[in-house]
Parts: sequence; C-alpha cells; structure tokens
Amino acid sequence: MYLFKTVQDYSNFLQHLDGDSTSIGFVPTMGALHDGHLSLIKASKEQNALTVCSIFVNPTQFNESTDLLKYPRTPGKDIELLASAGCDVIFMPSPEEVYPPGVDLASPIPPSDLVSGMEGQFRPGHFEGVVQVVKRLLDIVQPARLYMGQKDYQQAAIIGWMIQSLELPVELVVCPIMREEDGLAMSSRNVRLERDIRARATLLHQTLTAVKEKLNESSIQDLKALALGNLSQKDFRPEYFEIVDGVSLQPLEKINATDFVVACTAVWAGEVRLIDNMILQSGA
Ligand code: PAF
Repeated sequence: MYLFKTVQDYSNFLQHLDGDSTSIGFVPTMGALHDGHLSLIKASKEQNALTVCSIFVNPTQFNESTDLLKYPRTPGKDIELLASAGCDVIFMPSPEEVYPPGVDLASPIPPSDLVSGMEGQFRPGHFEGVVQVVKRLLDIVQPARLYMGQKDYQQAAIIGWMIQSLELPVELVVCPIMREEDGLAMSSRNVRLERDIRARATLLHQTLTAVKEKLNESSIQDLKALALGNLSQKDFRPEYFEIVDGVSLQPLEKINATDFVVACTAVWAGEVRLIDNMILQSGA
C-alpha cells in the first residue's frame, strides 16, 4: 500500500501506472474509519484495478468550528484498517495541498432545491464545502468510479448532480448503509455517544422502520408527526424528519406523488448529531 501526502507525489505515481491498470476506484473519507467505509473499499476493490482512499478532514464543510475541532481523528488506526482491507493507495493531504494558498479553485454552486432543505437548512454552507472538496479530490485522484455511502443521502444526491452537470468522466456508486447489530447506522461520530445514549440510539432506525411499515396506511403528515414524536425523548432532539422524492429531494405531500420515496432525519443524541435515512419505496 502506498501513502501519498502531496498532490505532486500522487501525480508522479499516476504517471507511472501501466496504462491498462488505470481503472481507479476512489473512496473519499474524513478518516475515523469504520466498517461502513470498509464496505466502500470492498466495493471498489471488486470493480477496479486500483483503490484509492483519501483521508482529509475538510474544514470548508464544517459550519461550526467546534464540530471541526471535535471531529475524531485516528490516522494510525485508519492506515492499519486500510492496509488490512487491501486498499492500494492512501492520499492524506494537508489543507495547503488541497487548497493551495493563492490558487482560486472554482467549484460549482449546487442548486438551492438540492441544498436548502434537510442538512442544508441546519448546516449552512456545508454542501458547498463538500462539492468543493470532492471536485478538487476528483481532479487530483482521477478515478473511473467514486464510492459514497447512502447514509449521507443528500450528499450523494448532490455529488451525483455535480458529476452530471459538469459531465465529469466518473461513475458514482452509492453503497448501502452499514448498521450496527441494533440498527444504528455506522458513523465516525458514534464513538462520541455517551454510553446510555448509545444504548438508546437505535431509536432512529426503529423510527424509520416504523414509518416504512405504515407507509400505505397513513398520510405523510401523520407519518412525520409519528416520527417526530418517537424521536423526541429524553436526551434525543430531532432537527428534522422529512419524506422526500429520492431524486429531487423535495418534500412530498402525498406518497403516491412519486415512485422513489426516501425518509431522512437528523437527531441530536446528547451532544452528538446523528443522521440516518431509509428508502421507503423505489420504483425499481
Ligand atoms: O462523507 C464524508 O466523509 C465527506 O463529506 C467527504 C465526502 C469525504 C468530503 O469531505
């Protein structure tokens, strides 16, 4: 496994690759890796000659400086996990490598329809930062396929929009949410949950499952009220629970208005903000 810290070193490596072996699968991460990330590495290894994983805690996507400071950083363990998962290349740049001082790195502005709701409403500027860093990393890494998790549903939809609108030569592969045994979606933030809150954090998955089960017998308004009621418990505070069209991300007023229905939520669990989602109905 190679580890590169500079754009120059990675570019040199790219130039020396045998032309035939340049089917690169790319897994962008902010480190603090868990089995969810490793499932992306596995998917990439199955489909590409070479798998590159980046570890970069991107400052431009944090709208709160304390969240950036508290973001877990475990580089030693991450490198070990990536080596045992068979990752070929780790790209671990500094902020100066990603955002060289004095260089204007243009990135597209996502349409407000996609960014103004859900995460965008509570984390202003977050998706602009995500689009900026993913575009920059794609330019550096030059993959054929990009692997992202469904857990960040809105993020994956916005990156899909960016790829399409810029006609980038990369295929987005969205991989299923990995869950702990009790249903909690895997997340780097889970390690910060207090023990008794962690024990009850399966609440998000239970609520999404309950909503899916009642999909055909209740109105959207009743489903949302049910979910918000369930999620409002001691130590838990929902920020939103939305039922949206899976492509446009627009909130639905009626279930049968579209074939592709997704429920997304963000909940404060003590001091930790958790997100989760579930595809309630898909045309496929
Ligand atoms: O999902 C993440 O970990 C980040 O938003 C990403 C895609 C690595 C960009 O910093």
